[in-house]
Amino acid sequence: MPSDLETAGTPRSDHDAARTDADGDLLAVSGVRIALRRRSGEVPVVETATFTVPANGALGVVGESGSGKSMLSRALIGTLPRYGGRVTHGSIRWQGRELVGLPEKAWRTIRGREIGYVPQSSMAGLNPILPIGEQLLEAVSNGRRRVDAEHRARVLELLDLVRIPRAKQVVSETADQLSGGMRQRVVIAAALAQRPKLLILDEPTTALDVTVQAGILKLVADLRRELGMAVMLTSHDLAVIETICDKIMTMYAGAVIEIGGVGDVRGGPLHPYTKALMESRVDQADPTRDLVTIPGEPPSTGNWPPGCRFWPRCPVAVDACRVGDQPAMRSFGQRWSACLRTGEWL
Ligand SMILES: Nc1ncnc2c1ncn2[C@@H]1O[C@H](COP(=O)(O)OP(=O)(O)OP(=O)(O)O)[C@@H](O)[C@H]1O
Ligand SMILES: [Mg+2]
Repeated sequence: MPSDLETAGTPRSDHDAARTDADGDLLAVSGVRIALRRRSGEVPVVETATFTVPANGALGVVGESGSGKSMLSRALIGTLPRYGGRVTHGSIRWQGRELVGLPEKAWRTIRGREIGYVPQSSMAGLNPILPIGEQLLEAVSNGRRRVDAEHRARVLELLDLVRIPRAKQVVSETADQLSGGMRQRVVIAAALAQRPKLLILDEPTTALDVTVQAGILKLVADLRRELGMAVMLTSHDLAVIETICDKIMTMYAGAVIEIGGVGDVRGGPLHPYTKALMESRVDQADPTRDLVTIPGEPPSTGNWPPGCRFWPRCPVAVDACRVGDQPAMRSFGQRWSACLRTGEWL
């Protein structure tokens, strides 16, 4: 049993946590709910996300497809309206400043500048015919029309920073001439153009093969150290997160259900869903046994069951799990879990 649980004491409520975590963190998210506009009305897609990212910290967000990882990332850079979405409840504090409700003009001073963003599938978003140098110049000059020698020097500096060899040639090449790994490095370079304090990477390695993936993860870890930058990385793959993050946050069906240090979660997850994710990992599977898969499917957005959203697939669910609202996160030492039975079933 993890030591934190033994010394857990009385669990604190979600509300208390939000109050104490707000001090001194780069990013403090508390009680955030996100809804999308649909023809039938607003549909919630993320509920009561509460977490923090300290300066220089690295938070990994894991969860199956549709769990809300990308929507949560978009809330942090103010692009939800592009998807017909908005934060309906809660607070997102960036260095003490409230971001919820910020007008678009104010977002422009934060998005890309203070918080860098590498969107999901962003490699495919590179212009296939515009030279790499021109695309990076746009990021460096931040849309200004006048581009000077300093901007051009910064482009070369960025390509060096992401370890792209032959930077002087690469500036005149197009995305089509680069490998997948090199394209991803270009996208990361663009996100670093304004020297952000936090870099959000949404599934940065999903489309890449294993060796290239390892190279990108090492790059992100090195950049974090060299630039003294915080990182938030989403992935459906725990192994990716464990490579470079200090904390893991698990999402299931729009809810944050576990947060803990990478070593602690690895040593013994507090939520049965995180446990199931660990047991279904391909990279650590015992080749002599069949791979464990999580039975059933996650519920579709808006069709969440009453009670804990995971109960229909949970091997330890009891009657209390099947009624009421999605259970709130409770703290156990430095760790958090939304499982009503945390501490009982381990
Ligand atoms: N572009 C979009 N327009 C409208 N609804 C969307 C859009 N993208 C996602 N959604 C809705 O929001 C919910 C959460 O999706 P989100 O993309 O945040 O999940 P995710 O965890 O990032 O999944 P994945 O691992 O597939 O990237 C989805 O179930 C879907 O209903
Ligand atoms: Mg996503």
